[in-house]
Amino acid sequence: MPSKSPKESWSSKKSFILAATGAAVGLGNIWKFPYMAGDNGGSAFVIIYLICVVFIGLPIMMAEIILGKCGCKNPIDTMKNLAIEAKATPMWRYTGWIGSLSLLLILSFYSVVSGWSIFYLLKTSVGFFNNKTPYEITEYWNTFLQSPLNLLIWHSLFMFITMYVVAKGVKNGLEKASNILMPALFVVLILLAIYSSATGDSKKALNFLFSFDYHKITPSLIIDALGHAFFTLALGAGCMLVYGAYLPKKVTVSGSVVSIAFLDVMVAFLSGMAIFPLVFKYNLTPQGGPGLMFEVLPITFAQMPFGSIIGTFFFLLLLFAAWTSSISLAEPLVLLLIEKAKISRKISAIIVGCTAWVIGIGSLLSFNLWSDYKLFGKWTIFYINTDLTTNFLLPIGGLLFSVFAGWKLSQIKAREALGFQKEWQYKSWLFLVKYIAPIAIILIIAKAVI
Ligand code: PFF
Repeated sequence: MPSKSPKESWSSKKSFILAATGAAVGLGNIWKFPYMAGDNGGSAFVIIYLICVVFIGLPIMMAEIILGKCGCKNPIDTMKNLAIEAKATPMWRYTGWIGSLSLLLILSFYSVVSGWSIFYLLKTSVGFFNNKTPYEITEYWNTFLQSPLNLLIWHSLFMFITMYVVAKGVKNGLEKASNILMPALFVVLILLAIYSSATGDSKKALNFLFSFDYHKITPSLIIDALGHAFFTLALGAGCMLVYGAYLPKKVTVSGSVVSIAFLDVMVAFLSGMAIFPLVFKYNLTPQGGPGLMFEVLPITFAQMPFGSIIGTFFFLLLLFAAWTSSISLAEPLVLLLIEKAKISRKISAIIVGCTAWVIGIGSLLSFNLWSDYKLFGKWTIFYINTDLTTNFLLPIGGLLFSVFAGWKLSQIKAREALGFQKEWQYKSWLFLVKYIAPIAIILIIAKAVI
């Protein structure tokens, strides 16, 4: 990624697609999707999530990217400048501030969970889980979460490697690595899904994930699905806006966005099919919460031939996917400090990294020492950072980007940046960002809150 927004840019359309896919594909697809689906009864969640991706996520992703492309700055200044240009109130800049808060909170817990992956990578690579029973593996996970020091080490390490890359400016290394590692992640996930379907209860898993049962739809399920669509597509926080700001002028947006969303959803489905056949085979509960992946997959690796090799690959690639996403979470914040506080990239990265690291400590303590501290008796710090941020802050940010792009941005600029081939495609996009996405988000949030 370039180190400076307005003048530098991605080297090609392909590198933009790779970087944006890197931002989108991450823990959200592999770790969060299966447990959200599990907690929300499976298929009903999956269908609503897909609807949110297609009718709300896709058009808003296009909106966010073209805002960046037209504004060419950090999210706050982009929104302010575009608002002034459109003779609207500069208060639109607060959209950028809301996004920055989301990024910081997400980055803080993201690093904690990615830290778990580093630890599980090391354990799997030395064959630690070989010959362990499912019960022992589940127990091991619970014990692991009880050790704040252990969690702190891995959280710190992950935050360090993220901020190291962001501080350096990541254009060459990351673009090249993504070229190889993203397809490799796909291959390993396909292998795992095939193995898990062949040896586990694939019928029950397919039923669980895809046979639609509208009785299970509740307001809280819809808000979870909406939030997850935003989280997994990296929307509503200004990340895609910044990636759009790095787009060369001649590259248009619409086609790329569809590929990014498609790849993103495929990774989530593959992860679901890697996990659920085994959940049912071993009579584990799908409602495993955040630990689901860390309990189920080591069980698989313990049983399958060459399990520790495949497991090592899996956690390595998961870590890579998490790394590219966490970089995308940090980059807009670092850019913001560079442009606003006029400080160097290195110092900005240190400030962002340390702040997110400290907040992350609150998240990791919610699994042990602070597990009883709950806001309104309900929400631990981890929960506030994961679910409340994802379900409310991201959709609100997305709503504002959508309204601005639909109602305020010059339509000549929007049309040019999007680059649709056909007029009806542009008209459909405009209709979705002007009416459907904002109304749907407002209704969903209102229903969840009231
Ligand atoms: N999309 C990432 C994932 O699914 O893991 C998480 C994420 C990245 C969310 C960037 C928001 C963001 F701005």
